[in-house]
Amino acid sequence: MDIRGPRLRKPSDEALAFTSSMADDGRIARQVILVNLAHMAALVRAGEVDRKLGAKCVKFLVGASAEIPPGAKSEDFHQQLEQAAVDSLGVETAGFLNYGKSRNDQVATAIRMELRGSVLALVGSVVGLQSALLSQASKNGAVLVPGYTHLQRAQPATFAHHLFAHFDAFQRDAERALQLYARVNLSPMGSAAMAGTSVKLDRRYVAGLLGFHGLVRNAMDAVSSRDVAVEALSCATIAALDASRLAEELILWSSAEFGFVELADAYAASSSIMPQKKNAVAAEMARAKAGSVMGGLVAACAILKALPYSYNLDLQEVTPHLWRAMDDVTATLGVLAGMVASASLRKGRLDSAVHGDGSTAVALANYLVRERGVSFRQAHAMVGALVRASADTGAPLQEVAASRLAHVSAGFGKKVSVDRGTIEGLLDPARFLEGVATEGGANPRSIAKELRLREGDIASTRSSLSELKARLAASERRLRATTLGLAREVKSGD
Ligand code: ARG
Repeated sequence: MDIRGPRLRKPSDEALAFTSSMADDGRIARQVILVNLAHMAALVRAGEVDRKLGAKCVKFLVGASAEIPPGAKSEDFHQQLEQAAVDSLGVETAGFLNYGKSRNDQVATAIRMELRGSVLALVGSVVGLQSALLSQASKNGAVLVPGYTHLQRAQPATFAHHLFAHFDAFQRDAERALQLYARVNLSPMGSAAMAGTSVKLDRRYVAGLLGFHGLVRNAMDAVSSRDVAVEALSCATIAALDASRLAEELILWSSAEFGFVELADAYAASSSIMPQKKNAVAAEMARAKAGSVMGGLVAACAILKALPYSYNLDLQEVTPHLWRAMDDVTATLGVLAGMVASASLRKGRLDSAVHGDGSTAVALANYLVRERGVSFRQAHAMVGALVRASADTGAPLQEVAASRLAHVSAGFGKKVSVDRGTIEGLLDPARFLEGVATEGGANPRSIAKELRLREGDIASTRSSLSELKARLAASERRLRATTLGLAREVKSGD
């Protein structure tokens, strides 16, 4: 029997191919089978379906394949699975599978189940990249690097300070994804098409079997909403943006112009014509993926915008964007982790970059404020004039400052002088950084403490991750045990 029933004549092949989600349903097929199992277990438990019939359905589902053969023609995997059950068990038995459920609540549930794993994979890859950043920080953290604003040298920093900046952005990505997880992990089952059902299903029992920690309460909301998909795409997008900024820095820093970093050959590619080339191709793709991920977010928003409640097939079009984005961002973070961990610093280049470029000039201004009672704006102007003179004459700032500060400062209405030794000390990048007094600043003395704080972040994300994974595995074991117990009640020959 064709489960589509007699209401409509056959769909055109073209329309069926156009509206079918079979090509993308492979991603949720396993979850769809689990949802069917839990639903049947609940029907039997409620006495809504005869135990023997239910046991046969469950036995079929336990052995059902989640592989979708290429070219299989169906509206979707939900329909194909039920049709296969009817073909195999007969409609008197398998005809109870969809009692009290709809593809609408089923697909919303399967997406949430699959998304749980994708979110945890995303968090796992974030934490992997974070630990690569920390391994660089503990190896090379004390190396001085130029810090940039407007991509112009601004002030020196420690390499650790720069790595921690990226780390902290990824920390928020991990936290955001874990908060999202709590909103994903709610069950739509029992909502049926959109109004709920007269079938006496215990929604909380089904939710428990499927590892959810609660319900999407309103049945219409449960089948109509995809905001958790949008939220996941937002989390993916933000993480991909953070990753692309790191990727861009790897590309810049490994260029001849910067020359601060040597990337491992494993993440580079050569040119088919220029024998000398070493292109940072993995970082380029990481940078590009952010565009694709963001595109998925925009696509999902555009599909959902102004969509009337409740279910519309438009919702089907959101899901492939979700999986692609989650996979892209997870792969991006994984590759970047390897690139970061295997990169080496070109310390000589960094050393010459941080010395003698005037990027410590504010230390002299601060000294004039603290020790000579000059207002900061005046001190800023005095030092600015010295820097300008240094640029005009080509003489190093410390020389110009030593010889001309008295004259320049007099011009700003407050004559001060500072001896050359003091000026040299103030302008020295290492001394500059040792003078940083604020929490979260680039003082090298704080590296060890900042490192420990972040090791704590990693440990706590990892423990949340393993707890959530263990809960998922336990609920799946429970579902298997419940349904296998039922399946075993089918006598041979039945
Ligand atoms: N293939 C559909 C999707 O992915 C499943 C739900 C279909 N529901 C329906 N009433 N046609 O969203």
